[in-house]
Formats: sequence, C-alpha cells, structure tokens
Amino acid sequence: MYKLYINTGKELGHINPEIQGHFSEHLGRCIYEGIFVGEDSDIPNKKGMRTDVVEALKEMKIPVLRWPGGCFADEYHWKDGIGPKENRKKMINTNWGGVTEDNSFGTHEFMELAEQLGCKTYVNGNIGSGTVREMSEWVEYMTFDGVSPMADLRRANGREKPWTVDYFAVGNETWGCGGNMVPEYYASLYKQYQTFVKNYNPDKKIKKLAVGPSDKDYNWTETLLRECFRQQGSFPQNFGYMDGLTLHYYTLPYDWDKKGSATGFNDKEWYMTLAKTFNMEEFIEKHSAIMDRYDPDCRIGLMVDEWGTWYDVEEGTNPGFLYQQNTVRDALIACINLNIFNKHCKRVKMANIAQLVNVLQAVILTEGDKMIKTPTYHVFKMYSCHQDGELLESSLNTDRIGLEEQYMVPNLSESVSRGKDGKIHITLGNLSYTDAYEIESDLLGAGIKSVRASVVGGKPGDHNTFDAPSVVTEKEFEDISFEGDKILFTIPASSVMHIEVGI
Ligand code: AHR
Repeated sequence: MYKLYINTGKELGHINPEIQGHFSEHLGRCIYEGIFVGEDSDIPNKKGMRTDVVEALKEMKIPVLRWPGGCFADEYHWKDGIGPKENRKKMINTNWGGVTEDNSFGTHEFMELAEQLGCKTYVNGNIGSGTVREMSEWVEYMTFDGVSPMADLRRANGREKPWTVDYFAVGNETWGCGGNMVPEYYASLYKQYQTFVKNYNPDKKIKKLAVGPSDKDYNWTETLLRECFRQQGSFPQNFGYMDGLTLHYYTLPYDWDKKGSATGFNDKEWYMTLAKTFNMEEFIEKHSAIMDRYDPDCRIGLMVDEWGTWYDVEEGTNPGFLYQQNTVRDALIACINLNIFNKHCKRVKMANIAQLVNVLQAVILTEGDKMIKTPTYHVFKMYSCHQDGELLESSLNTDRIGLEEQYMVPNLSESVSRGKDGKIHITLGNLSYTDAYEIESDLLGAGIKSVRASVVGGKPGDHNTFDAPSVVTEKEFEDISFEGDKILFTIPASSVMHIEVGI
C-alpha cells in the first residue's frame, strides 16, 4: 500500500495556466492541413481554421499558443505574410523539408486563430536573419493603437484595433538553428533587440523572453543572466531586461541518429524513455538555482517552451515533417512533465509542448477531413483542472522500478492543487508496465464530502487511429472509496488518473 499525504492547509505556489501551453510551427502538416485549410476547403472551417480542431482545443482549454517557430521563426519575415494572399511572397522552408511556404498563414491568421481559441498569444521574433527594425515594426504593427506607419498598414490590411501580444521571444535556439551564437554575443544582441520591443499599451505589457539553454547547458544560463544583470545600475526597472528565459528539452528513447519508434517498443524501451523524461526535473532545478542568484523572488519565469517526445517519423512520411504516433507511453510522459512543472510552479511560468497538431508529441492528428485526439490530448484535458490553481504540499512514498540500473524510475508520480473551483485535484501516474498499486490518500484531517475519478490508460502501446479513434480516452473510474479524510483506490498499470475531491 502506498501513502499519498496531502496538506490542504499549505499552498506552495500559483499554477499559471500557461504551464499547459502549446507550440505551432510552420513545420510539416502542423499549420497547413492541421489547423489552417483555407476558406475554400471542403473541410468545415471558420475563416480557414478547421472547426473540428478549434473545438477540440477549446474543450482542452488551451491557454497559450506559440508561433511561428521554432527554427522557422529565425527565417520568417513577417511582412511576407500580410496583405492580399495572392501577393504574398513564397519562400523555402529550409529547416523543414525544403518545401514551399506560401505565407498564406501570417500574422492576421495567427491572431484570428488565437481569438477563436480564446487563448493567449506567444509570438516568436526573428533575431537570426532579421533586423532590429523588422522586429520593432512587427510589434508596432500588432500592438499600436495610434497613428503610425505600421498601425496604418495594419488598418489598410483590414484590422482596425491592435491585438494583444502576451509573450514575445527575441529569437529561438540562438545557440543552434537561430544563429549558432555564443552566449556572450547573444546577450548583447538580446539587450539591443529587446530595447525596441516597445510596450505601446501599459495595461497589456508584453512579456519579453530571452532564448535560454537546451538541456544541461548551465553555462548559457549563467552567462546570459550575468550579462543581462550587470548593467542594471540606475535602471532597476529593467530587471534583467526579461520576463522569461526559455528552456528546451526533448525526450528521445535513444539518440538523435536513431531515436526509436513511437509505437513499436518493449518494456525496456518504456522504462528508458520514462527515465529520460525525468531529466527535466534536474534541468529545471539546476537552471532555477542559477536564476535564484540573480532573481531570488522568481520575477523571471523559466519558460519550457519546447518539450515532449521525439521519435523516428512514421514510415512512409516525409522525414522533414516530424509526424509521429502517440501512445499510452506519451500519456505518461505528459503526466510526468506536467507534474514536474506543477511542483516547480514558482519558477516555471509557462511550458509549450511540441507541437500542437501532426508534429512530434501532438495532441491532435489529422488525415484529410478526419481528426483524432491522442492520449496526450486526454491528459492535457484532464490536467486543465490545475489551471490557475494553488499547488498544495503533498508527498507520496514510491519504489524505484525498471529493468536496467541506469533507467530506473519512481513507480508513481503525483501533483495536487486546490483548483479555482475550490476542489482538491490529485493527478497521478502509474509508471509500471505491468503492475497496479493500491494507494491510500490521506488529507490530514480535512473532511471529505465527495470524490470523483477518471483515468487515461490501457496497454503501454495502445493508441488511437483514424479507424479506431477511441482506444485511449478519459474514462470514469468508479472503483474508489472514501471515509473521513482518507481515499482508497488501486491505480491500474500504465495509466494517468485524476481525482477530484470535495471537502
Ligand atoms: O520542434 C521542432 C524543432 O525543435 C524546433 O523548430 C526547434 O526550435 C527545435 O530544435
């Protein structure tokens, strides 16, 4: 019997909804086909956006969407994507398959999508091949309400009022596809470019994000923060010149040459992949420790704006399109990461799984007019109970399980919050390939009035297909009882569970 203790009297931090954010890049069939089909398509759409996809994402409560990349962001020139579609320049998408990008999805279309979704906007600027002026004008175009060359151009293109840009990143992976820079050089460029990302609306300040590290590149974090903080001097209002620092970490079962299959895996590969997912916790803690020295009050967020699984592409698909299936293993990986983000919610203020539709660990896959929700989708929908909640102190005794010494994992993963609805929300993953576990949850004196539970799970390799779209879904879980301040249940092998508790 495993014991989960929950201290309902101890709140440890606010869970920003953006922790459950998403990422959409001009990559493969993410934007085109996956989201945007154009107004003339036979696929039902509103202003070109697929109705089925938009409805599913709203139901999942998508809080924020990042666009246009990724590596694509640093070769994207926003003025090519505005104005009459027939006049828009075509370009080569050099990062992703060398295909022709016709720029039919640009700034107006992204903002329209965000409005239909009711989510916040995260726009990624181009520092790798763009100019300061280009970045500055984009921000003016999107957010300035008065008379100016860019605001007038926006109006001429049919949009009277400015939009809200909630987050703006100054480049992407500038240590790699965004310019192959060393941190000292990027720090100087960052400070220069961000100066011209102006806040035209004092009531809706844009949160500026600096490109942070990948994985365990602690030198990048240290150098960037040192360079950004050293000039504070008499301008403390420019606190580090940033509101967030990004972090990228992907889970690969093997390595970049041979990543491993999305669906064809055995028990060893299951534990290996889950074990690698836990590196996220170490990276967050060590980068946070560096941030703590400059920013002990956590004013700057660590934004994990790319995470998720990266497998070999599905057979017969374009290798540059990064299309992969999604199984119960991915559901567990989403659960582990989302629990880690919750537990570090004081520092982690946004995270964006890569990517939204048809790319990497997508929540949605499409084929023509068909759409399926992946196991990862169902976990995100389940976890939406935590959005804007307060993290509660909790602890769970676990055992280390696995088949190889270097890939052992805890058998259970959990996080608990008091939701906006006043209920206690427990989310819990069973990482075992084979075993169910009996759990007693102890709410330490809080009288329980009601309990409802649901589960996403199945056999480890189970997944949804266009012919069988409902193999893995969220199902009611009834085999659960409570008395006084205790809840008793058995969590099935390879599953993710949500327990909603009324007290
Ligand atoms: O998500 C796919 C790619 O991974 C992104 O474009 C890039 O930022 C990262 O390397």
